[in-house]
Amino acid sequence: MTPPQERTNGLESGVIPKLSGDIRPLIPKLGLRNYWYPALKDRAVGRRKPVQVSLLGEDICLFRGAAGNVVAIQDVCPHRGARLSQGDCHYRGTVACPYHGWVFDESGKNTMVLSEGPLSGVCGKPGSEARIYPTRTLKGLVFVWMGDAEPAPIEEDVPEEFFDDALVLIGQVVWHCNWEVALENSMDSHVNYVHRNALVVARSGFIARGAQGEHPIFVGNGFAGDVGESNYLRKSPKYDVYPDGRRWPKTNYRRYWTWLFRPLAERARRHIPSPRTARWAGGHRLPGMFRTEFSWDLYTRMCVPIGENLTRVWYYHCLRPKGTLQRLWQRFLYGAVHRWIIEYNFSRQDERVMLDQRYDAPEKLSGTDAEVIQWRRLVVTKHFGGRDAPYEYRNPDGLAPEQVPLSRVSVRYLQEQARKS
Ligand code: FES
Repeated sequence: MTPPQERTNGLESGVIPKLSGDIRPLIPKLGLRNYWYPALKDRAVGRRKPVQVSLLGEDICLFRGAAGNVVAIQDVCPHRGARLSQGDCHYRGTVACPYHGWVFDESGKNTMVLSEGPLSGVCGKPGSEARIYPTRTLKGLVFVWMGDAEPAPIEEDVPEEFFDDALVLIGQVVWHCNWEVALENSMDSHVNYVHRNALVVARSGFIARGAQGEHPIFVGNGFAGDVGESNYLRKSPKYDVYPDGRRWPKTNYRRYWTWLFRPLAERARRHIPSPRTARWAGGHRLPGMFRTEFSWDLYTRMCVPIGENLTRVWYYHCLRPKGTLQRLWQRFLYGAVHRWIIEYNFSRQDERVMLDQRYDAPEKLSGTDAEVIQWRRLVVTKHFGGRDAPYEYRNPDGLAPEQVPLSRVSVRYLQEQARKS
């Protein structure tokens, strides 16, 4: 494995611009390079036909290797630019271009030219090979290393539950907006307002309103929220009263609805597993991930740029059921109920607001947007300085990122400890 200092993001200068003022124009529109990204579900790749996926503005062709592994190869044929993803897998562990029949193996080498025959002089010649992207399949999801440098350990970029016996239920939607817009949507105070009629919010009760937000805590690969300042632990008054007497919410019928569903919601919350390390607690993580202890599971939203204004949003729902029956039950619940509640009912409300958001307009941030500012600085630092560029941020209490205790960043962990004592 290449030492961290030898991995760069492919930028010549490595000079990190000044991180003050509005730095949005410095954020890469096609996402951060040199990270592992989810590409597609393993079962979507057949044995006879390749498939295409676009990641970070690049078209990639995926096919099965000789051992059944998923191979990712550039989707532009080095001969004359036809799409390998429109070709065929005539021979095990290869893909053939649909135009002149160049056949590529899983190392990217051109091993046959079907239109010219065995005497073709081009096979194996320099320039006839195609680029291969490193891949790894975890819990049925194929991850692709999107970079020019040596791949980093995948454990740095993919949540911890992909490496143990947790149940991870995986869904996806596509949003027609930039990845940064999609991700920043999870960093602010909109939930109580945009989602006030979402089934999951009405079912579980409102998160307390507050004007200050939490201090972000840097945990090495992004930010967690300080649970000591979390609104999840507080109760909101029935309504807020503004100086001129106006109230919000205007009615209280949603509270009755919540009261009705409380037993169900509390039962569901008991299934939320605590994260195992602060590095993977709730918050925002590189290269485009939001995690939270939400509703029914330890939930991740991973925003993957397809193009400048197109984002594939992956959902990882982490649960730790005991035994096979519980695993099956949770799978059934996800397919029958939770998937619709979270990925459609809830997320479509975000989409309605985001798609027409003018991300290029001047903005006036409020007290609950502290993490937005730090997140942008982190992204710009990594974009210009490379994935191993140090990020200068002083945590509350001066905690080093690797010393942040779980008790500081996870409500579920605190609840589990309280139950044990
Ligand atoms: Fe692919 Fe000719 S363009 S073989």
